[in-house]
Amino acid sequence: MSGTGSADLVIVANRLPVDSVTEADGSQTWRRSPGGLVTALEPVMREADGAWIGWTGVPDVEVAPFDNEGLSLVPIRLSSSEVEEFYEGFSNGTLWPLYHDAVAKPEFHREWWESYELVNERFAERAAEVAATGATVWVQDYQLQLVPAMLRRLRPDLRIGFYLHIPFPPGELFNQLPWRRQILEGLLGADLVGFQLPGGASNFIRLVRARIGHRANRDRIHLPEGREVRATAYPISIDARAFEALARTPAVAARAAEIRDQLGNPRKVFLGIDRLDYTKGIYARLRAFGELLRDDHLDVEDAVFVQVATPSRERVEQYRILRDEIERLVGRINGDEGRIGRVAISYLHSSYPREEMAALYRAADVMVVTPYRDGMNLVAKEYVACRFDNDGALVLSEFAGAAEELRQAWLVNPYDINGMKAALMHAFAADPRTRARRMRAMRRQIMEHDVARWAADFLADLR
Ligand code: G6P
Repeated sequence: MSGTGSADLVIVANRLPVDSVTEADGSQTWRRSPGGLVTALEPVMREADGAWIGWTGVPDVEVAPFDNEGLSLVPIRLSSSEVEEFYEGFSNGTLWPLYHDAVAKPEFHREWWESYELVNERFAERAAEVAATGATVWVQDYQLQLVPAMLRRLRPDLRIGFYLHIPFPPGELFNQLPWRRQILEGLLGADLVGFQLPGGASNFIRLVRARIGHRANRDRIHLPEGREVRATAYPISIDARAFEALARTPAVAARAAEIRDQLGNPRKVFLGIDRLDYTKGIYARLRAFGELLRDDHLDVEDAVFVQVATPSRERVEQYRILRDEIERLVGRINGDEGRIGRVAISYLHSSYPREEMAALYRAADVMVVTPYRDGMNLVAKEYVACRFDNDGALVLSEFAGAAEELRQAWLVNPYDINGMKAALMHAFAADPRTRARRMRAMRRQIMEHDVARWAADFLADLR
């Protein structure tokens, strides 16, 4: 089979870049979801008559291909049992924790694996139908690691790229996986395998050598059939200019002032914004803040914490447990430390549009990003992009990919509560000149390395 479709660039991702919304009159439409990936790829997609293959996020519905704001979208159907086994199971109960340092215990179930294979095959078949002869196909993330090899079998004429948005673990962890060889072989179907950090790329190359026995030279792996696979790092970023432009709007400035006002005009505002995920270190960070209040290093008149926790993967057991733990802790700290009209931690279990996020970034004196492990962490970069005033302090985990670029943040080890307390206090007390110096340096980095450049670099290398 070759050249049955017409798209010269095909993106294959677990999710389509749209969300299903129900209008007031009960009708259903699609709204563009605000990811950086789609923003970056949109211009290239238009030029190349591109198509995006992905799941709608809703189980059991068959949706015909459709156009949304000039993008051609090709929905994949997942049954409810596939949502349980492929998505919640193997993707988010096995791979997600395993690839994040096993901060939660990964579960290994043979039925989950079978579903993962089956669904990956469905994505690969669809990509094979949609892609034009010699087209470029770019497969995204851990949910689809078998697609590159499956697709190459169907369509050897294609250029196939793969990008992993999360960390790629060392052998000490990866080797637990009963299907480790199949995953490595799946990825080797690509011509180019991209990682967030050089460390992930070298973990992969080392595993390919050790487990499959292929030769490798720097970032090139030599396959016996003569093909070459490159494995290299492309740290992802955001549309930094768009974030800055948004932060500069009068509406966002007014909303930022209003937020501070509604918080009771404390001297300083700490902010956390995360998907409610156990990799993000939300619990430990709030504990650190709570202890600073308890021990009178801070007072609620001086400082409050706003924690936005975006609902995520809510049917997965470990996410439910985490939510309960965090909410119990927030209740306890607020009960012990709050006063009437002055809440220590404003906890928001909700997701917000970009404008509100930009306003929160502008309102926050100290942004606290403390994951135990994170592929990159775009919230840290968004905060920096929004601080065109060269003010604000970023407290950042050394285990976030972003820490390799944002060296001027207050870097912390999130396992070290005392260390985190010290960093929060340093960021809290930093003088304006120190803040400006650090912020300026970080802004230079992210303005030069935005998501458009990331996509262009990857695609140029792939082609
Ligand atoms: C991470 C992953 C993405 C995923 C996102 C949201 O950023 O790398 O692949 O789409 O989380 O998670 P969800 O399970 O809701 O798609």
